[in-house]
Amino acid sequence: TFQPRVFSGIQPSGGLTLGNYLGAMRRFVDWQERGLKEGFETIFCMVDQHAITVWQDPEALRRQTRELAAGYIASGLDPSKSILFNQSQVPEHAQLAWIFNCVARMGWMQRMTQWKDKAGKNTQNASLGLFAYPALMAADILVYHATHIPVGEDQKQHVELTRDIAAKFNHDYKTEFFPITEPVIEGAATRVMSLRDGSKKMSKSDPSDMARINMTDDADAIASKIRKARTDPDALPSEVAGLAERPEAKNLVNIYAALADMSMEQVLGDFGGKQFSEFKPALADLAVAKLSPISTEMARLMTQPDEIDAIIGKGALKAREIAEPILKKTYDIVGM
Ligand code: ADP
Ligand code: NA
Repeated sequence: TFQPRVFSGIQPSGGLTLGNYLGAMRRFVDWQERGLKEGFETIFCMVDQHAITVWQDPEALRRQTRELAAGYIASGLDPSKSILFNQSQVPEHAQLAWIFNCVARMGWMQRMTQWKDKAGKNTQNASLGLFAYPALMAADILVYHATHIPVGEDQKQHVELTRDIAAKFNHDYKTEFFPITEPVIEGAATRVMSLRDGSKKMSKSDPSDMARINMTDDADAIASKIRKARTDPDALPSEVAGLAERPEAKNLVNIYAALADMSMEQVLGDFGGKQFSEFKPALADLAVAKLSPISTEMARLMTQPDEIDAIIGKGALKAREIAEPILKKTYDIVGM
């Protein structure tokens, strides 16, 4: 009984990576076009309140938030087709999050692998916000009654928790007010790995990973990072099964497939039997061709911060038009 509505967000917590582009932004653009055709709304957010769950330098946060907006727009999100805004400009997110803090259980949060990873061993020293992060994320989604949440692999557990929070709220208050949302994890590159360690995710939140490809990298930087990417001495196999024990090789083939809109089988059809000395330059050319127009456009937009601020300010007003009545009704259900 809920109309389809798409929501997703990215943290302005550092330079955007190839992983963010392939796993999230590019999918968002596909959803935008689908929404336009099928008549549903698509809502994409810069989640700055999530970013401050770990320390952010204020000036860096401001710049990264604009850069993320520029990244969205340069990737093809269009403020006349999708709602683009900054989380902190729509206070209903934090207001609903408080209610969800009172619905979610401590044990649910403790099971989150991202909490365990990010808090490390010294959990006593992690922020309360980092612990409560998934309740805010549930609010981000449910304050719009969003039904479809395109995310990368790493966010699956949080979207599942959103379902648990919605279900418990609905149960406790004897209502069917919140939809039970679906994570949508699709596309070739739902988990892009680090170019220097195939067992770690490429992440903007990992400043120690100098090998990561940033969406702001120029052609030389992209090519050099691909040239230096860790691989093994063997030639590429002709079947995907041959990549099973070769995470670094698999990652590069996967990135190629995602950038070229091909399957991994097709990529190996072209490159099976070839050495990395041949594959890497082809991958570098492809990555430069796909990414450098985006980084150029991002750089251009970043010279007009006022324009970016105006776009996201308008987006926030549109977002509030949806969020306000949903929060109001939630308060009413709760007895407030
Ligand atoms: P990060 O881990 O880079 O800080 P976020 O937590 O802000 O990224 O996630 C933003 C979106 O990008 C999410 O949908 C997430 O699943 C996706 N994403 C992040 N890193 C990757 C990756 N390496 N591969 C695929 N998708 C990713
Ligand atoms: Na993440």
